[in-house]
Amino acid sequence: MQKKVALTGIKPTGIPHIGNYIGAIKPALKLSETCEARYFIADYHALNAIKDAERLRELTYEIAAAWLACGLDPEKVLIYRQSQVPETFELMTMLLAFTPKGLMNRAHAYKAIVQKNKEDGTDIDDGVNMGLFTYPVLMAADILLFDTDYVPVGNDQFQHIEMAVDIAQSFNFIYKTEGFRLPQPLATEETKTVVGLDGRKMSKSYGNIIPLFASESELKKLIMRIVTNSQTLEEPKDPDSCSIFALYKLFASKEQIEILHNRYITGGMGWGHAKTELYEVMNEELKPLRAKFDELMQNKDCIDQILLQGSQKARQLAAIKLASLRKIVGLS
Ligand code: TRP
Repeated sequence: MQKKVALTGIKPTGIPHIGNYIGAIKPALKLSETCEARYFIADYHALNAIKDAERLRELTYEIAAAWLACGLDPEKVLIYRQSQVPETFELMTMLLAFTPKGLMNRAHAYKAIVQKNKEDGTDIDDGVNMGLFTYPVLMAADILLFDTDYVPVGNDQFQHIEMAVDIAQSFNFIYKTEGFRLPQPLATEETKTVVGLDGRKMSKSYGNIIPLFASESELKKLIMRIVTNSQTLEEPKDPDSCSIFALYKLFASKEQIEILHNRYITGGMGWGHAKTELYEVMNEELKPLRAKFDELMQNKDCIDQILLQGSQKARQLAAIKLASLRKIVGLS
């Protein structure tokens, strides 16, 4: 049986944190073991917000290096820059003809800005560029160009995938053909919400993150900042309501988890001890990743090379798809 195609776009928005690693990167890499995986850097999507060339370039290197350091094997997973697959933009132009404006009006991200503008009494489209307004169409092009079956993403992206399905269905209906395969979202982050330093969900906007490639000393410092209660060393402690333990479980082996669990409920272990244990298991897993990341960031030509090769392969697939679509609509 032919493998299913899994595709996702990664926005270059800075070095990932532990939440992204556990919630998105690891599951996507796991999925690539059973699917034909295509993971690309959504740099044209990022351009809507980032109007600083040097920064966009640097963010692109960082995110590529991050995924490669986490174990993405470019021989097995197609990794490329969206901007290096121009077929995407031709398909987007085609899809615009099948996208009702009203559908875009309903996109959460756009609606949120309009709502805020209304509340502020400014022009409703203040700060909205057409790239943002048509963002879901570009995303549909990314997905539909590669006959995608599964799209691993966070829940906040589900609406966009539903829109891609809407657009694809209307195309298929009009031409009475299966021009597009209908994609399905796969929730990645939902199953694993990683707690941050303050006990809330780990999120950049809460300022409670642990960056994935923090140096050893930084990692240690951040772990020491994890908020705990004021129980004394002697007191037995509840592992299940503890952020340290929650993080520990994501990195430790079954045996290690059991041992620490016992130390919690027995008492005689202070928060400092628990934090040291957490540091040890986290550093053990992250150390080689950090080294690989640093090495890649010192060797950007190597990243360029990998992305270029990926985009060449992607373009071959895209060209075939686009040729068949052009025929269907009468453009060739
Ligand atoms: N919009 C996605 C995000 O903000 C990134 C993205 C762009 C994407 N194109 C995609 C995700 C195609 C999945 C499929 O995270």
